[in-house]
Amino acid sequence: MFDSLPVLPPDSILGLAAACRADPNPNKVDLTLGVYMDETGLCPVFEAVQQAQQALVNEEQTKVYMPPQGDPDYLAGIRALVLGEAGMARLGDRSSAVQTPGGCGAVRLGAEVLFAAAPDATVWVSDPTWPVHIPLMGSVGLHFKTYRYYSPELKGLDFAAMLADLDAASPGDVVLLHGCCHNPSGVDPTQEQWGELADLIAQRGLLPMVDFAYQGMGAGLDEDAAGIRALLERVPEMIIAVSSSKNIGLYRERAGAVLFVGGDARAAEAMASQAISAARRVYSMPPAHGALLAGRVLSSPELRSGWQAELAQICERINGLRGDFRDALTSATGRDFDFIGTEHGMFSFLGLSVEQAQRLREQQSVYILDSSRINVAGLNAHNLSRVVEAVASVL
Ligand code: LMR
Repeated sequence: MFDSLPVLPPDSILGLAAACRADPNPNKVDLTLGVYMDETGLCPVFEAVQQAQQALVNEEQTKVYMPPQGDPDYLAGIRALVLGEAGMARLGDRSSAVQTPGGCGAVRLGAEVLFAAAPDATVWVSDPTWPVHIPLMGSVGLHFKTYRYYSPELKGLDFAAMLADLDAASPGDVVLLHGCCHNPSGVDPTQEQWGELADLIAQRGLLPMVDFAYQGMGAGLDEDAAGIRALLERVPEMIIAVSSSKNIGLYRERAGAVLFVGGDARAAEAMASQAISAARRVYSMPPAHGALLAGRVLSSPELRSGWQAELAQICERINGLRGDFRDALTSATGRDFDFIGTEHGMFSFLGLSVEQAQRLREQQSVYILDSSRINVAGLNAHNLSRVVEAVASVL
């Protein structure tokens, strides 16, 4: 049966991370995968998560299945974090939440619910978007169109083009937005632009689906939720896919949640029930460990304040690295890299060609994606000048 089954090529991001791991050069630099790394190059476990884990190990008495909807503490914590107090009050019982295996699971269950409600809906995705969005949602049966977003000429957001494209969408179409720290460009709308975007989405009768994987890594927990909250003020329905991989550092534990906003309590309940049923068709129950840890961190005042402080330091460090990298690249090349300092989160396009990105990897052992996306959080005091020299040499 499998004799002629094709062997598939590796994933465009994970494959390059694997190539970097296999490179014997001791001075290699991995800027591929979107994971936060500290000054020593380690993707650390948050102190608050370590404490929660110790307590869980001491106290856990069963490994029985999780409830299909997920851990109530985790879901309550994520809802409050994302929607904010005002959002929670505004929505009342019009929102629901389901725990998922990571942010990918959340996007997938969100897509399942969209397909169940509107199988012919078109999903508008930014050009470019995270490459996994299309297979993740497309394999449910949804169809896509792109809206203009990142302009290589402007090295930033082409907001007028974005609005023009979305203005041509039909009522009932879905707009997939990145809540903050756009992946792959690092370019986000300003607060004012979020307001305009939300107005347009409401006027055109579009449904926003927000991928929210980096809250707290761009400018701060509340600052990064400003776009979602602007939408909540204006639209009756929405889907939000949340990941706890990055901002609680639970990558391998696969902790995430999909939040639903319906026109009324019945609709919110129906959306959650469809998500739970879709999960049952594929993996049945969500994984426990990461969500139990995050639930403890978010519901304990002490752990939560420790986590928030550590997250704020991470955010500050990424923004500091952006400034250092911008300055060093500008002085090494004489070119304008100001955009690196104004973007948010882990990612930035260096503006290199595919061939230049390949040369960086093959000749310099500096691993970036073909699109020239780098993970800024992979830079540190030890490798920054090496990366700058390598980029200058391929330019
Ligand atoms: C990335 O874009 O590198 C991250 O979101 C990790 C992944 O799964 O691709």
